[in-house]
Amino acid sequence: MSILVTGGGGYIGSHAVRALQKAGKKVIVLDNLVHGHREVVEKTLAVPLVIGQVGNKRLLTELLRGNYSELTSKKNGLNEPVEAVMHFAAYAYVGESVTNPAKYYRNNVGDSLALLEAIVIENQRRESLANLPSISIVFSSTCATYGVPEKLPISELTPTEPINPYGRSKRMVEQLLEDFGVAYGLKSIIFRYFNAAGADPEGDLGESHSPETHLIPLVLDAITGRIPEIKVYGDDYPTKDGTCIRDFIHVTDLANAHLLGLEWLNKEPSLKSFSPTIFNLGTGKGYSVQEVINAAQEITGGILKTKVSSRRAGDPPILVASSNKAYSTLNWKPIYSDLNTILQHAWRWHCQIHSLKAKQ
Ligand SMILES: NC(=O)c1ccc[n+]([C@@H]2O[C@H](COP(=O)([O-])OP(=O)(O)OC[C@H]3O[C@@H](n4cnc5c(N)ncnc54)[C@H](O)[C@@H]3O)[C@@H](O)[C@H]2O)c1
Repeated sequence: MSILVTGGGGYIGSHAVRALQKAGKKVIVLDNLVHGHREVVEKTLAVPLVIGQVGNKRLLTELLRGNYSELTSKKNGLNEPVEAVMHFAAYAYVGESVTNPAKYYRNNVGDSLALLEAIVIENQRRESLANLPSISIVFSSTCATYGVPEKLPISELTPTEPINPYGRSKRMVEQLLEDFGVAYGLKSIIFRYFNAAGADPEGDLGESHSPETHLIPLVLDAITGRIPEIKVYGDDYPTKDGTCIRDFIHVTDLANAHLLGLEWLNKEPSLKSFSPTIFNLGTGKGYSVQEVINAAQEITGGILKTKVSSRRAGDPPILVASSNKAYSTLNWKPIYSDLNTILQHAWRWHCQIHSLKAKQ
């Protein structure tokens, strides 16, 4: 049996593939490569890659049944039915989702709907095949589903009130999972990530978005002069230094949560009706934008220019998770997620891809 990782050519998906490989799982990646990296899947991770759209139901049917050796770019003969799907594939630029919501609803919601339907149809087919388990799914959601929370830390019971199409598209898929669980018994876990950051401790995987919008890679770009300065959106928030506070979670800790989530789902009984379980993934500790900048300068030995601009609409002063449910239910514990480790790993990766020499 194998695990299908959608979006496995992207930042978090590629780290999840690494974690699955380490756990001895067979993996197949489906990615349209709009934002993903072919060489990461095929060379660094060396797993079969199917280049395609999650919304392609005919393709999905073949993949879920294990008929993919002819579909992968390497035609490497792996033919294993899928036992679970990790669904990372999505577009994730908040600003773009505001100016082009159709793109976000079509890709994030429409393609996810096609995926869930394909899984349900395959699960119904498997009911008559006693030797194949039904397929479950782990879904990548986001703290953007909470919008601007009234209380901190944010727990899974905090009301969801997303304030942009990206957050709404993710919440809609969560609702699909709820309805598909009730109607078809589809087993799922929903992970709401806070700010994914850092890079694989082994140093050969990391964050490379284009365009880049995440704070830490931008800070490193500013330090190495690849961009002239870093924009700080608001320094008049009611926080200790006036800049926004966010909860940074190391991408390898996120990836490991997915393994524990799969294990946990496997232990859940298959019933006619199933309700997805939602877990926040964060550390519970927040760092301000200014603190990240200071720590990055310290670790890299470089300096950067900042430019304060006005607050961005809908940017809450503080977003910090309570992840107690993931700690107690999944026995998950972030081990790399202190700010210095995150920055050290991100810096090592940054130097490697831009051929710079990291300060030892
Ligand atoms: N990075 C974060 O901090 C963060 C926080 C919260 C949630 N998330 C969610 O985690 C997931 C992964 O985020 P990421 O930062 O790794 O993004 P990413 O852009 O690096 O990876 C997403 C991958 O999915 C692929 N893709 C997108 N739509 C597709 C489709 N319809 N069919 C096939 N492939 C498709 C892209 O080519 C890309 O390789 C996303 O669902 C995102 O919404 C990320």
